[in-house]
Amino acid sequence: MSLPIAVLISGSGSNLQALINKMEDEILDVDIKMVLSNRADAYGLKRAQAYGIPTAVLSHKDFSSREDFDTEMVRILKEAEVEAVVMAGFMRIITPVFLNAFPGKIINIHPALLPCFTGVDGQGEAAEYGVQIAGCTVHFVDEKMDHGAVIIQAAVPAYPGEDPDDLRARILEQEHRILPQATQWLAQKRLTMNGRFVELEESDIEPAALDNKSLVNPPLEGRF
Ligand code: GRF
Repeated sequence: MSLPIAVLISGSGSNLQALINKMEDEILDVDIKMVLSNRADAYGLKRAQAYGIPTAVLSHKDFSSREDFDTEMVRILKEAEVEAVVMAGFMRIITPVFLNAFPGKIINIHPALLPCFTGVDGQGEAAEYGVQIAGCTVHFVDEKMDHGAVIIQAAVPAYPGEDPDDLRARILEQEHRILPQATQWLAQKRLTMNGRFVELEESDIEPAALDNKSLVNPPLEGRF
């Protein structure tokens, strides 16, 4: 049975699109029950609607506290029979109200090699810092921003002085690979969290073909 998930977005939704593409290709075994955005103008809502995926808009500005906002998100997602949550460019910090509703079942993509460059512009800060290697991380979500246990990371080269948008694009390409892969591992129930450490249960799935653009660990599998 496919894992019933919600995808939370705030913007373009290209990571949502990557999840949808892998579902369409029957590589990713989830059922997106709901795409929820805190912004009515998020382009990702249109992407969802194009595939008949139910959408909801919940503006945080309509709530007096983070807890009240999270309570309403939980109500909407529970009503849609969601069991796990993928945060894909969702620019809000969640509270224990939300965390406790989906324990161990909320993951997030962050466009930096955590614990470096947390926050809204990880790629820009990495570019400005002059790093030689940058990347992205999928992690379980906890109460601190960009902090929970790390599931998978992808590293890419950075070229000091380059246009930060070029680095952003290089990282985004890898986000589109590691987020669907981590989501599949969650759907397969192969992830176990022991404190900060995430163990991935072994499988006999063939490793994905290596490219020379990135270093990904744990390695991608199959057609991811
Ligand atoms: C991605 O870089 C994501 O990691 C970051 O915001 C961007 C969202 O991209 N937090 P998209 O909405 O998935 O296109």
